[in-house]
Amino acid sequence: MITEQLINTARILVANHKGLLAMDESVGTCNKRFAALSIPQTVEMRRSYREMIVTTPGLGESISGAILFDETIRQQKSDGTPFIKVLSDAGIIPGIKVDMGAKPLAGFPGEKVTEGLDGLRARFAEYRAMGARFAKWRAVIAIDNGIPSRGCIEANAHALARYAALCQEAGLVPIVEPEVLMDGAHSLQQCLAVTKEVLHTVFEQLYKQHVSLEGMLLKPNMILSGLAAKFQDPEKIVAENTVNFLLGAVPATVPGIAFLSGGQSTELASARLNQMNKQYKAVLPWALTFSFGRALQQPALEIWRGDNSNILAAQEALYHRAKCNRAASMGKYNNTMENIV
Ligand code: 13P
Repeated sequence: MITEQLINTARILVANHKGLLAMDESVGTCNKRFAALSIPQTVEMRRSYREMIVTTPGLGESISGAILFDETIRQQKSDGTPFIKVLSDAGIIPGIKVDMGAKPLAGFPGEKVTEGLDGLRARFAEYRAMGARFAKWRAVIAIDNGIPSRGCIEANAHALARYAALCQEAGLVPIVEPEVLMDGAHSLQQCLAVTKEVLHTVFEQLYKQHVSLEGMLLKPNMILSGLAAKFQDPEKIVAENTVNFLLGAVPATVPGIAFLSGGQSTELASARLNQMNKQYKAVLPWALTFSFGRALQQPALEIWRGDNSNILAAQEALYHRAKCNRAASMGKYNNTMENIV
């Protein structure tokens, strides 16, 4: 049985057009982003970067929840205040990524399955005691010649559902993230066909594992052509395909859908989310918002570059992206918002 409190948390996470900040890059991913900007890849630099993010003034105006990584949830500001407290004081609900990453799926060359179910009940108990109120698990599905296979889709959907059930048992809201990757030159129609099969399989598994849909959030990809595709569809086509597909695949009891950005540019991610809300707001049964990582953080990271004299400018950039994306989840974003000094 899930509690009123859990359902309430799920609703609060998508209320008032706010969205989520994904700042749960694993050590490896965070180091990769640092290396690209010649930022030293140390625990202290990662802590310092995350301190810049969580102390951004006014972040809670647009951000309802922040997804942390195991290293980050245990860290503090330089004055000793735990990040979890800094976030809670700012009105931002702390969450935690609990999967252990996507690993090669035996018997399926080129495909992956996300690991991390063993010992998860005990880890949930620890994270909840620390103050986390929601969690995230990401499955990755690649599109290429002959893939994804049915075996890969089913293995990932099953793991997502097992995770979501354990998460609700522990009193945390599961964010269910089946990401169809943008890597490659596939068309929007191919992305649509694969995402359709993936999401129908995920909801079938959620049903079989007794996951309560009113106490979870979905974090999907938008329906887009691959990053290497020559043709990129206009916003209207992306919005039409994404929303029509989601209306047929996601039950109305799910309180919210929060998109990942997946490698889109910051402005395109905002513009596409905006188009969906502007055009379809009146018929959407769930909140349609953002749970972006790169599309929120990248400009701030590029300004900060490991130099604390850039903190204020980096925080302004993060605040600005969060504000643009909240406007997009109201259907009120437009690119004149980008012309700030
Ligand atoms: P991106 O928005 O950078 O895709 O990150 C979101 C996320 O949480 C991926 O798991």
